[in-house]
Amino acid sequence: MRLVPTVAFALSFCASIPTAYAWGPAGHEIVATIAQIYLHPTVLPTLCTIIDFSSTNLSPLDSTCHIAPIATWADRYKSNMTWSAQLHFIGALDDHPPSSCAFPGKKGWAGTKRVNVLDGMKNVTALLQGWVKGETSDDAANEALKFLIHFFGDSHQPMHMTGRERGGNQVKVAFGGKETNLHAVWDDSLITKATSTIPQNYTLPLPYYPEIEQALRGSSYDPYIRRIIREGIFQKWADEIPGWLSCPDAVKPTSVDAQAALGSGGTTGIEILPDNDVLCPYHWAKPTHDLLCDGVWPKEVDEPPYKRTDKNPQPPLLELDTPAYSGMIGQRWLVEKQLAQGGLRLAGILNYIFAGQGQRGAFIEEC
Ligand SMILES: *[C@@H]1O[C@H](CO)[C@@H](O)[C@H](O)[C@H]1NC(C)=O
Ligand SMILES: *[C@@H]1O[C@H](CO)[C@@H](O)[C@H](O)[C@H]1NC(C)=O
Ligand SMILES: *[C@@H]1O[C@H](CO)[C@@H](O)[C@H](O)[C@H]1NC(C)=O
Repeated sequence: MRLVPTVAFALSFCASIPTAYAWGPAGHEIVATIAQIYLHPTVLPTLCTIIDFSSTNLSPLDSTCHIAPIATWADRYKSNMTWSAQLHFIGALDDHPPSSCAFPGKKGWAGTKRVNVLDGMKNVTALLQGWVKGETSDDAANEALKFLIHFFGDSHQPMHMTGRERGGNQVKVAFGGKETNLHAVWDDSLITKATSTIPQNYTLPLPYYPEIEQALRGSSYDPYIRRIIREGIFQKWADEIPGWLSCPDAVKPTSVDAQAALGSGGTTGIEILPDNDVLCPYHWAKPTHDLLCDGVWPKEVDEPPYKRTDKNPQPPLLELDTPAYSGMIGQRWLVEKQLAQGGLRLAGILNYIFAGQGQRGAFIEEC
């Protein structure tokens, strides 16, 4: 690992404040909104020149300069961009959370070479760097940017980091008594629950932080974002954040595991492109994937009475809105941390691409 990197850019409003005060659609939009808060001031106008809002069916109101409205574009048009469906996730052949977590393990990754979310992030970043140099067309940059914003959301959703049962889509569970599936619990249910149980004080604008308020759009999740920033980014995780934005020096293909396997009989899966010292999706995704074996993929679904077997073809649904599951996740601030990491890392990359902000991009802190 590098030493804690120098932060290239800190929003200046801290300095000017004299005293100390201090993944469904919502998930993707929250990641994009947090990113927008941390953009270098010159970057947002550039992004909004690149994005062709007219192609996204947005109302004129939505298309004022915000990036959240296009954060789910890649999902909305998945059906007529079928080639892109595999770009939203990655999974290792050996992965079977929660009993064995492989990322990628001995066999390597499932799928087609270059067609996964981690390689997708590198592809679209390179295309956008090409746009800055005048080598990528405006149309290609428009598409690449919409994918980039989306991929930072997907790559921080743990269920997008495994191929087991289609990332949990095939695992039927209940949440609040309603049938759903494990993937959807992480896309939507946990966020919906969190946004509906925010202390009342966060419904009001946070004083002294106009950069936060300017990025909000009157959404139901605004109070949630204020809380994530105020209690999470400014407090709980303040010391860790420089580490979130850093990348290890070593540029290694996929993992040591996969290399070991090459020496002992070869992989059957694919390899991914190496991380670099600014964009390291594999390094960032690894701890997200680890969560699957740390309580996020409930082990009960593999045990009686919930395990589906020939003798038990219609098992009862495991309820996940319980103290042991949603309560545990809430207490650990797991969802909030994933959203915050996705947002800050996205801001860092956008600042790097479009403002040449040294290595790391922005972060703001409590003053
Ligand atoms: C997908 O279909 C919609 C209309 O159904 C269209 O407006 C849009 O341009 C299409 N997107 C692509 C990338 O072809
Ligand atoms: C790279 O991104 C471009 C722009 O969005 C896309 O058209 C292309 O299919 C991508 N290629 C891969 C291998 O992901
Ligand atoms: C809002 O209320 C919560 C709980 O009462 C408290 O912990 C938090 O510090 C308050 N936040 C602000 C910004 O006042």
